[in-house]
Amino acid sequence: HGTSKINEAGRLEIGGVDTVEIVKDYGTPVYVYDVALMKERGKGYQKAFEDAGLSYQVAYASKAFSCVAMIQLADELGLSLDVVSGGEMMTAKQAGFPMDRVHFHGNNKSLEEIALALDLGVGCFVVDNFHEIKLLQSETEKRKQKVKVLLRTTPGVEAHTHEYISTGQEDSKFGFDLQSGQVDKAINMLIDDSHIQLLGVHSHIGSQIFETSGFVMAIEKLFSEFARWKKEYSFEPTVLNVGGGFGIRYAEGDEPLEPAEYVNDIADTVKKQSEAAGMDVPEVWIEPGRSITGDAGTTLYTIGSAKDIDGVRRYVAVDGGMTDNIRPALYQSKYEGMLANRANEPTNDTFSIAGKCCESGDMLIWDLPLPEVKAGDILAVSCTGAYGYAMANNYNRITKPPVVFVEDGEANLVVKRESFEDLLRNDLPLRSKERI
Ligand code: LLP
Repeated sequence: HGTSKINEAGRLEIGGVDTVEIVKDYGTPVYVYDVALMKERGKGYQKAFEDAGLSYQVAYASKAFSCVAMIQLADELGLSLDVVSGGEMMTAKQAGFPMDRVHFHGNNKSLEEIALALDLGVGCFVVDNFHEIKLLQSETEKRKQKVKVLLRTTPGVEAHTHEYISTGQEDSKFGFDLQSGQVDKAINMLIDDSHIQLLGVHSHIGSQIFETSGFVMAIEKLFSEFARWKKEYSFEPTVLNVGGGFGIRYAEGDEPLEPAEYVNDIADTVKKQSEAAGMDVPEVWIEPGRSITGDAGTTLYTIGSAKDIDGVRRYVAVDGGMTDNIRPALYQSKYEGMLANRANEPTNDTFSIAGKCCESGDMLIWDLPLPEVKAGDILAVSCTGAYGYAMANNYNRITKPPVVFVEDGEANLVVKRESFEDLLRNDLPLRSKERI
């Protein structure tokens, strides 16, 4: 997929760059991103909105993969940006991303983060709860500063996805519940606040979604409240943010739609509902994360030790694992992989790919068909671009791999490999007298 192919040397090539060369230059493990594919996805969403004739914003959900270069790419593509923490905001700032196109999410924004967002002038707060309303009202009042706001709602729609990544159902930690009047209460609190410009509402029903029915239902549920909101609060949403969650293909059985297919159904529903309600069509915002970066990312590992259990299984271990990709351990996520250095050789057995962490659950792929592997082979695991580096950790004090962007035959290092020095930077000796 994307620009990946097997080249004449029989090796996996991405963005016109031989992955074995990448390994020579940067070592393993290493994350490699196909820039052309990320561009194609971003533009795919934008074009679909253009074709539908709607006003829109496509905000890249930076939680999927954030680093300065990625945020700069999002800017170049004309995407907006969804951030959920001070750290993601500071990454956007460091990248020089225009703050008026930043949308600030989070179910427990701290006062410090709210202050930072106000200092930086973020374009929109997606307000999640009553505690945040109070903080935001007092802070904007104190500063005499105006902010734009969307209300995050839980419309009571369940996306068919893993329980941990499904968010739109009623019983969720996120947002104001639509059914029980929490959204009404929030509108009532904000609508007359001179420092708050209430743009509209937001809903995110989950992640890794392969159908449009959940989006359609969520939009219908929200619209069913619009007439009443107009009457009771003179509040007419001018922005409807339907979140992200568009799925990608990780392995067999995953059947995602094209960006345009998701957008078309969303756009049609919004148009129909607006017409029925006799209101202007609101601006539609979406927040794709995974579908921009997920299948553009490939992790390259070096194979090391092996263990055969006769008649049961053959294990081979790689030089990374749950520290650079926690998704198999956390969500039992399935991945596919291949030997990057001998990509055209026929597979002759199955091998289970173990990570190097001291934990039995640190298995990346079970029973992967491969040619006879040996130590030193390069294993490429595909579709690791979202929530891979983003959720990387230092368990077992393993350092985080570097990130390389490839495009048009060129490789560019965009995140350096973490060093032991980086790892130890904040450690202090026993009985240090140092304070904060
Ligand atoms: N907007 C909101 C409000 C979200 O909560 C999320 C993801 C997104 C947008 C982007 O969703 P995407 O397009 O990437 O599916 N760590 C999990 C995924 C957690 C998703 C959290 N929210 C995983 O690795 O599958």
